Amino acid sequence: MDEKFISISEAMKKGSGKVAVRGWVYRERGSNEFKFLIIRDSSETIQCVLKKEKFRKQWADIDKLQVEASVEIIGNVKKDSRAPTGYEISAEKINIVGLSNEFPINKDLNEELLGDRRHLWIRSRKMNAILKIRSTITGALHEYFRSKGFYEFQSPILIPGGAENGPTLFSVDYFEKKMYLAQTWQLYAEAAMYSLEKVYCLAPSFRAEKSKTSRHLTEYWHTEMEVAWAKLPDLMNYAEEMIKSVLKRVLEKNRKELEFLGRDLRKLEPSLKKKFPRVTYEQVLKVLKEKKKANIQWGKDLRTIEEEQFMEFYDTPVFVTNYPKEIMAFYKPRDPKNPKTALCFDMLAPEGNGELIGGSERDTNINELKKSLKAKGEKLEDYDYYFDIHSYGAIPHGGFGLGTERMIKWICGLDTIKDAIGFPRTMTRFKP
Ligand code: 4AD
Ligand code: MG
Repeated sequence: MDEKFISISEAMKKGSGKVAVRGWVYRERGSNEFKFLIIRDSSETIQCVLKKEKFRKQWADIDKLQVEASVEIIGNVKKDSRAPTGYEISAEKINIVGLSNEFPINKDLNEELLGDRRHLWIRSRKMNAILKIRSTITGALHEYFRSKGFYEFQSPILIPGGAENGPTLFSVDYFEKKMYLAQTWQLYAEAAMYSLEKVYCLAPSFRAEKSKTSRHLTEYWHTEMEVAWAKLPDLMNYAEEMIKSVLKRVLEKNRKELEFLGRDLRKLEPSLKKKFPRVTYEQVLKVLKEKKKANIQWGKDLRTIEEEQFMEFYDTPVFVTNYPKEIMAFYKPRDPKNPKTALCFDMLAPEGNGELIGGSERDTNINELKKSLKAKGEKLEDYDYYFDIHSYGAIPHGGFGLGTERMIKWICGLDTIKDAIGFPRTMTRFKP
């Protein structure tokens, strides 16, 4: 057919008259006289009705059409309140483009079986909605940083070793040597910061963490930024503004998708309007002691359950600053005003979504860096280049990293982070 095809949502907008659409069979049912096909494309679904008397020659093929067969249809569109999406096309012509095997997905499949068929499951309306929102979010992140004068800078994914914390690295055979997959862009970004001052990146990070939670992937998209001269409050201002501008964009562009996912928009609105509270680690311990009778020893990291208990009191993300220095990554500097703690923050998300962002000022005192690395049992020679970076005109600077899928999970209201990405990688899920 050499018609001018339009998308199904354009056909619905047109509302009447002749249209040509194409897509895949989403549902089908037939009778002696009629065949009802619901056709989906990337934009929408629409019911098409085919009358047997009009398609005598093709009827045998039409009657056999299975879910996911691809078709081109020309016909007349009209409003019809009985049709699932409010419009119906009365077909004049049909071209069957690709036949479909019996589709191996039905309502009874559990998460594991859907995972095995992921390459087909991403055709579902649910995944279609999530992937559209994901695309808005990654686009809005680029837009945000570029609008603030940041340069996009890419770092190597294959690294010689040395990063956040050794045991969670994946190793790779690199000719006769061993290399590792990057957990963060940060250490290279700090080098680039001395050239470009404001840099950001969206790229995969890899963590060989043995966590089977609803918020851990082994490969995730890490949105990171690094800024010259920035102090902790500046970093938190950027983080808050970034979250708000992404949220605003999603609410502008994807209301339909959020509604399809059943997301309660009233739960997102406070994060757009209210200022995110800023509290210290010490204050968190106090609140948990007073209100939850939880006795956490000073110096222990907050566990997921404790973060969740604390976040029950908030309907927006919250910044928690000044975690104990000893349990933090080696590059987070001591706070001179409270030397037991580091100049760092985590941004915790509401509704049980845990840590969204981790950030800090960076230590440029090479002796302090070496002390911290030694205390963590790291090999100093792995970090020679990092010491070198800060040996030529060191300046105060800092940055943060956002777990992009964690943000998608929160905004979409998903049960698991696995649905926030097309093909998830976890400890137990690495196919297809
Ligand atoms: O807190 P993290 O480990 O911080 C860093 O990697 C810093 N180098 C970032 C920086 O300052 N440039 O990781 C940052 C964020 C976390 O807050 C979390 O949202 C996400 O990355 N994240 C994960 N997301 C999904 N699956 C995992 N296994 C994740 N590990 C961390
Ligand atoms: Mg962290």
